[in-house]
Order: sequence, then C-alpha cells, then structure tokens
Amino acid sequence: MTKAKKLIEVALPIKEISAESVRDKSIRHGHISTLHLWWARRPLPVCRAVVFASLVPDPLDANCPKAFCDAIQDLLATNPLYAPYPDIPYTAIYDPMPDNLRNRLLMFIGKFSSPCQQNMLAGKSTPSKDQIQEGCLIKWESKNNPVVLRLARLLIWVAYNAERRPEATYQELATEFDLAFNAIKEAENNLYHTPNRHLASADVESKEATLQAAIESFQKRMPSVFDPFAGGGAIPLEAARLGCRSYGNDINPVAHIIEKGSVEFPQKYGKPITYTHDEFMALYGKDGVNLHIEKFGVMPTGNVEIPNRLSFDVEYYAKKLLAMTEAEVGHLYPTDEKGNKPVAYYWARTATCSNPSCQAEVPLLKQFYLANTKSKKVYLNPIINGTDIQFVIKQGKYNEEELPGWNNRGNMTCPCCGSVTSVQQIKNEAVSKGLKEKLTAIISESSNGKQYYIPSASINNILSKSIKLERPTEKMAPHTTGGDISVWGYKKWGDMFSERQLFFLHSLTNTFNKVVIDWNKSNYQNALATFLSIWIDRIAVINTNLSRWSELRETLVSPFSKQAIAMTFDYPESNPFCKSSGSAINQIDWIIRYIESESFVEFSSLVVNASSGERGQFKSKMLTAVVTDPPYYDAIAYADISDFFYVWLKRTLGSIYPMNFTTPQTPKAEECTALKHHHNNSEEEAKKHFEKKLTEIFDAIEYQTSDIVSIMFAHQSTEAWTTLCNSILSARMNITGSWPMDTERAVRTLAIAGAALESSVTVSCRPSERNGYESFKRVKKAIETKVTEEVNALYELGFRGADLLTACFGQAVSEFGKYETVEKADGSEVTVGELLELARTAAFNALLRGFDGDEYTRFYIGWLQMNGMGDTDFDDAAKFARVGMSVNISDIFDKHLLIRTGNKQHLATYKERAINNTFGSTTDEPLINQVHKAMIIWEGGDRREILHHLKKVGKEASSPFWRVLASLKELLPEGDDLKQVRELISNSANLIQDCEKGYINTQTSLNFE
Ligand SMILES: C[S@@+](CC[C@H](N)C(=O)[O-])C[C@H]1O[C@@H](n2cnc3c(N)ncnc32)[C@H](O)[C@@H]1O
Repeated sequence: MTKAKKLIEVALPIKEISAESVRDKSIRHGHISTLHLWWARRPLPVCRAVVFASLVPDPLDANCPKAFCDAIQDLLATNPLYAPYPDIPYTAIYDPMPDNLRNRLLMFIGKFSSPCQQNMLAGKSTPSKDQIQEGCLIKWESKNNPVVLRLARLLIWVAYNAERRPEATYQELATEFDLAFNAIKEAENNLYHTPNRHLASADVESKEATLQAAIESFQKRMPSVFDPFAGGGAIPLEAARLGCRSYGNDINPVAHIIEKGSVEFPQKYGKPITYTHDEFMALYGKDGVNLHIEKFGVMPTGNVEIPNRLSFDVEYYAKKLLAMTEAEVGHLYPTDEKGNKPVAYYWARTATCSNPSCQAEVPLLKQFYLANTKSKKVYLNPIINGTDIQFVIKQGKYNEEELPGWNNRGNMTCPCCGSVTSVQQIKNEAVSKGLKEKLTAIISESSNGKQYYIPSASINNILSKSIKLERPTEKMAPHTTGGDISVWGYKKWGDMFSERQLFFLHSLTNTFNKVVIDWNKSNYQNALATFLSIWIDRIAVINTNLSRWSELRETLVSPFSKQAIAMTFDYPESNPFCKSSGSAINQIDWIIRYIESESFVEFSSLVVNASSGERGQFKSKMLTAVVTDPPYYDAIAYADISDFFYVWLKRTLGSIYPMNFTTPQTPKAEECTALKHHHNNSEEEAKKHFEKKLTEIFDAIEYQTSDIVSIMFAHQSTEAWTTLCNSILSARMNITGSWPMDTERAVRTLAIAGAALESSVTVSCRPSERNGYESFKRVKKAIETKVTEEVNALYELGFRGADLLTACFGQAVSEFGKYETVEKADGSEVTVGELLELARTAAFNALLRGFDGDEYTRFYIGWLQMNGMGDTDFDDAAKFARVGMSVNISDIFDKHLLIRTGNKQHLATYKERAINNTFGSTTDEPLINQVHKAMIIWEGGDRREILHHLKKVGKEASSPFWRVLASLKELLPEGDDLKQVRELISNSANLIQDCEKGYINTQTSLNFE
C-alpha cells in the first residue's frame, strides 16, 4: 500500500514556528540551554514541530489512513481553539483559511492568538509571550501541559498504528492509547508513594519493573526517532516529550554528559519520594532539615514527602560540597571593608611601556567605566605620578576625549610618557614572561545595587600572594573558529585560570571526589554525580581569567559568549562564595530549575557517545524517522572548544564513565566538520572529510529509517549546501520538502554578517530511486519555475536576504534528485554545485523580477536584499556578481557601489557614493546614482537644486526614479539613508507638482514635515 506523505512534506506553519522560536531564545528559567553551555542549539519549538510533522501524515493525502482523519475530526475539528484563521493575519489581502483537516492540524501545531491576529492585521506588535495561542503544541507553556501532550501523543499513536493495522478504527486505537498510558500513571503512582523506595526491597523492585514494563509497552506502539548529531539534546528531548522512543548520538563526550543531564536523568529520576522521618534524618541530618524548611516552609514530624528527589539531592550535595570547599579555601577570598563577600575582584593586565626611559607598568584598559548604565555611571579615574599609576573611583560621566583608553586594539599608549607600544611588542611580552596583573577595584553587592571600591592594602596582600599549584596541561587548539588566543601565550587549558581560580577549582573537584567515592555507583547516584559535575563546569566557566565585566549590565560575562574565546585585558575574578549572579550558589539554581521543569515527562531518551554512521546500531528500517541538525560545515569547532569542559569532567566523571573519558582530550578525527586546521590546513581535504563523514552517516540512516529523514541546516554558503546535498543524494535519498524557519527576526537588522544563517532550513528527505537521464535544459526550466514560486511565497511570509535564497536550495535539489544523471548539451554531467548556483540565480532573478533597472541599480538593490548594509567577506562580492548579473566586480568598487575596508566590504551609503560634482546628474547615469544624488541634495536642504534635479530624473510619479526610492524604503535599515528616502517619498507629491509648475527658480525653504 502506498503510504501517505508526511505533513512535513506538504505544509508547516513556519511563520508561527518562527515567532515562538524567536521567543524561545529569550526564555531562561528551566530552558534546556541553561543547564550547560553547548553551541548552536536549535530552538525547542522548531524541534517539537519538526518531530511531530515528520511522524503524522497529511490528512488531505488520498492515502492517509481513515483512522487518522477521524482522530483530527474528533480531537481538533470541533475545538474552536484550532479553527483556521478567518483572515490569514500575515498577508496583505483578505484571505480566509479553508477549514479542512490539514489546516486544523497546522493550527494545532501553531496558531497566532486572536489578539495577535488583530494586531498583525492592524500592523501592530504583540509581546512575544502572547503571540502564539495557548493550547498550541509549539508554545513553551505547552511542554508540560497534559491536555496538549495527550493530543499530540494520541495523534502520533493513531498515525503510527493505523499504518500498521489499517483495519483498526480511531475509537479502538484511542481506547488502546488510554489503556497503555494510564497503566504508566498507575505504576508511577504505586512506586512513587511507597515510603523509602530508595531502599532495595522486593516490593520496590517489583513496582519499578511494573513501571518499566508499562513504559516499554506504551512506547513499543509509538514511533522511534533518532538524532545522530544530538548535541545539547533539543531534538531527543522533544521526541521523548511526544512519547516516542527517542535516541541520540554524539561523538563528543561533553555533549554526551549534557544529554544525560538534559534528556535522560530528569525524566527518569526527577520524581517524588516519601521518606520515613527517621530515614530522612539518617540520610540528610540537620542540613537536610534546613534545606527542607528553606524549600517547603515546614518540616513534618511524620513521613517526609519530597516532590522531586533528584533536584532536592542535587541541591543538598552541591551546598555540602560548597561548604566543605569554603572551609578549605574561603580565606583566599577576603571580604570588603564592610565585611561583605565581594561579587568579584577586578583585575587589569598590564604591559611595560616600550620607552626605555619610562617603562611604566600600564593597565591595558580600553575604557574606564565600571558601570555605564542609563541610570548609573562609575569609573576608574587615573592618578599618575611619574611612572606610578593609581586609581580613584568616581561617579558620573567622564570626558572620553580627555581620557581616551590606553589600549586600542592591543596597541598601548602610555599615559605617563605618551609613547605607543605596539600590539606585537605586548604579545611578545605576554608569550615570553606573561603579562602582569593589577587589582584595580572590588565589586560588591548592596541593597542599592553594585558598589565599587579601591582595594585596601590588606585585600591587596591576600590577593597578590602566589599559590603553588599544578596547571592542567591539556593543550588548546591554536585556531578555533573565530579566534586565536595562543598569540597571547594561551597554550594550555590551565592557562585560562588565575592561581586562586585554579586552586579553588582543584579544591572543589577534590571535595567532590572525596564525597562521591563513598557512593555505591547506582544509576541514581551516577545521575547525581553527573549534575554535580555539570554544576562544577558552570562554576569553571565563570571563573576564568578571560571572563569579562559588562559595564553596561554590571554582570560577569562568560568567555564563551561567542563560539570562540577572545582575549580580554581586564577581567572580574568572581567570588564563588558570594550570593550574587556568577556565584556557585546561583549556579545550582539554574540546574535545579532545569531538572524540575523537565521531570514531568514520563519518557527519557537513550543517548550514546559515539560517532554516528554505524549501520549495525539499528536494524534495517527500525527507525521511523530521523530528525537531526548536523554541524554547519566549518562554523563551530565543537571538539576544540568543548575541551575546556572535558578537562574538568575528566577529573570529576572519569571514574564514573570511564569509557567516555579514555582519550586525553575530546576525539577530533571523526568529528563531522570541515575545519581545515584538522586537515593539514587544506580546505579541500576538510571539505572532502565533511562530505565523506556526512555521506557515511546518511547512508546508515537511509538503511535504518523507514519513513522520513528531516535535516536542519543553518549555513548560507553554497559550498556547505553542496556538500550537504551531495551527501543526501549519495545516500540514495532525495529532498521532498524544504522549510526555512527564522529564529532571530525580532533583533535582526539587515546587516547580516558571518556564515551562519539567521534562520535554519529544514529539508525532509526520503529514500528514493533515481531514474534515468534528463537534459539540463528541462531540469533548469523546472527548477526556475519551482524556485520562482517558492521565492514569491517566502517573500510574502517575510523572509529576506540570504535566508530567502538558501531556502530555495531544497526545491532545486528535489527536482534534480529525481534523475540518475542530468546532462548538459555537450554531454557533461551537471554537478550539485552548479545546480545550487542556478537555484540562487533563479531566486535572485525572481526577487528582482518586475524591476527593470540598469545592472548597477539591480546590483545595489539585490545586494541590499541579500546582505544589508553591514560588512561582508570579500569573497562574497565576486560570488554575488556572478549571480544573474553582468556587472564587473572591479567596476562595482570603482563606482563606489561597494566600499572595501581590509578584507571586508559594505554597500556604500548615499554619502559614500558621490565621486564628483556631476555624479548622478543626468539620465544617462545609473538610476541608483540619480537617486543617491537626490538624497545628497535633499540632505543639503537646497530646494531649488532638488527641483532642478527632479525635473531631469523624476518629474513623473510613475518614473523608475521613484520606484527605486520605494524599493530602498522597503529594504534599508534604520539610519540616515532611510531617513532621506522617507522624507523624499513623503514630499514626493509636492515636489513633483512644484517641478512641473516650474518653481525651480524660486528660492523657497525645504519642507521637512
Ligand atoms: C549542530 S550541533 C547539534 C546541536 C543540537 N541540535 C542542539 O540543539 O543542541 C552538531 C553536533 O554534531 C556532533 N557531531 C559532530 N560529528 C559527529 C559524528 N561524527 N558523530 C556524532 N556526532 C557528531 C557535534 O559534536 C555537535 O554536538
């Protein structure tokens, strides 16, 4: 029997998913991203929606099982919550959405709330938390909503089982679902309310076995979903939430530990427990009583009920470890003058002035503010005496011209003698003997917010004492993506800590090992140890000498705020024993919140620490779906940067998970990335490696999966996509659906930079037979038609720029992937690379269709669409010029359309365009010049001149001149260019009238209203 298409192959509410994904980025408490840092996490709404839509059929497909259509009819069709839009709110026209089963299903996944619909239609905004309607699957609040989860799981259950038992009715399947699920709830109830269930007994063992059997029997009738690149665990988390058998692999041991903490342990162990009073006292003693009172108010005299055993234990043991560590090293963290524990000690690195007659030790400060918020300004005011540099703390603003920073991109200007010491000289000093450090301020917390002090002599004495210790010797990779701190002398991971930071971390890990060594290594205790190690990682990352102090927010910033570690010249040494953000106590809180927020779900994921691509891992066609998010080519060096954590996890979890920590550092060779520094600095070798690994992994997946493979990818380069598509096609699959999902729009400007997309594109693939041969001419035509349709639809939905062009790749490949070979007229085969360039060109042409300007104007508008006004890499210009344009790239620079700065370039502003006085003055010149000329005149305020110019180039409202202005108005980011364009357009009627009436010679002032 032919199977129906899955929903993801025909429709997805991408606008709604994008909106909730933007919101997801700002959700903190209880969110998976706050458990432990991992890079390039996918937003949960995208993951939940893609898993769901990969498992349920399209109800309008002729082959959709009747039971599934009946399920939608019963569960969604009568509920007004899931009624399709009376008028689609994000389109300009009146267009009611037909009320059919597919649209009901889409509305269940995500629907804009009624107030949001009204606002969208009226062009108003809605707070992000109110945009998606309560009761929709993707909404954050739905993640533990039993009603929504039941609907989603039941729909998946019916879809899965109806395919296997076509004769079963919806009612039969729904009854079976309820029976199977209720058996789990009953078994949970029996187990979790048995007093002292932590103690081994035949009764407890039997109840545990009953629960396990109930979960297995339910999940046997649910689909299985695998993520071969599980990372921080977002996809397995969502697959398990939906009740599926959920599997995840990651090659990286750090990711694996995070996955255990995020998708296995809270769901398994974060459950209620009841202790008899005596047992509670024996286990926890007085500290346990205090914690109980702190958390729940009163301490019962009889049985003690703890709602979440795991979170209670993590908190109890973390506090115990912290108290033991403070007793050992607390004296190294002196209190301030008022006896308070400071938040941080603020250090500046210093360098020696290269002037031989000066040689002052100069703090390498770029600026002097400690606090620079709207309502508060505090700064370090230097007092210079000969070559001695001291500071006092002052409130208020300082004059940045009179007191410029002493460090400009690493070059130091000495405030004592004015000499400049070059960045290279300072690097040499850093590498040969290390830069010295000067304690410049103490940061404390008070009821009035942060307070700043100059350190007293006694504090200085304590903090300046040298501590003898061994530094972790594991090596840092010199070239991680986006930064290289080895030139500053950072060669080993141990170099990232001050002596005190390291002493503290050693003491904490030793204390951890002393406590854990007595444990019985049960699965539960291993889970506990895992969270305590995650907690130590969180503390380590905020305790480095490359952390930063944000004067704008008055907080500590981790060195990993980007995907690489940047050099800093001043840093806050955080006090782990204080109570503020950044303290060890505060770090426990994040972990507790995560555990408690994910303990509600009954199903955990099975995660494996291995390189994916092992065919034998799952039997042939055993998996229902694969949903995954592979590495984005060369964008992130996961193994290199995660070594920071590996160093500490090896010391805490090495004996608990010996198999995961056998290598001295994280495994690099099998990582599926295209990082040239792992491949003899050869881009070609790196690309080949990435393609080979990806093909191997997709090949295994094709063998193991029965239905759909959904792949999310977020890279805009054609090269990265070529490699991805080659691997999909080589693994005998073809693309059947392609969806861009935007996650950043709320904060996005048109100034896009960097290789990673602001959105990700999800492509759904299926095993497919590639048949026969087709001519390039026909395939090209089919691709152009498909891409044009796609561009128009996505443009309507608000997608722009590189995101829009990249989103068309899936469409192009699906057309191409139908054939064994596609040949050009000369008999040569078309490559995927050529095909994607064709897709880009077709998309670009579709975007500029209807705009018949000259090539320079098309270039300007097209570039603006794609790259905005921000900096882009130099290579992009050459590539861009090839896309459907016949302009010469050197001409583009000569004509000041692009401005080059170093190896970057940006689109010229109108002010940067003018080459000479006659620029843009005649109709022979490109339209964009005529427009920019008008903007220059308008800004200058000479009405006679603007009328004179318009008489030549834009005296009719329908003239191309005004159409170019209208395009600019839509595309320009906020700024001076947009201001001039808006003003010209809003004055257009009056200007056109005046130049027609011949007022050119009359001197009048400009009307700027
Ligand atoms: C884009 S990330 C996944 C992020 C994840 N979706 C999340 O939301 O956290 C890609 C992951 O692939 C992993 N990886 C790279 N090569 C691998 C391989 N050969 N086998 C398994 N995992 C691999 C990396 O360690 C990284 O965690």
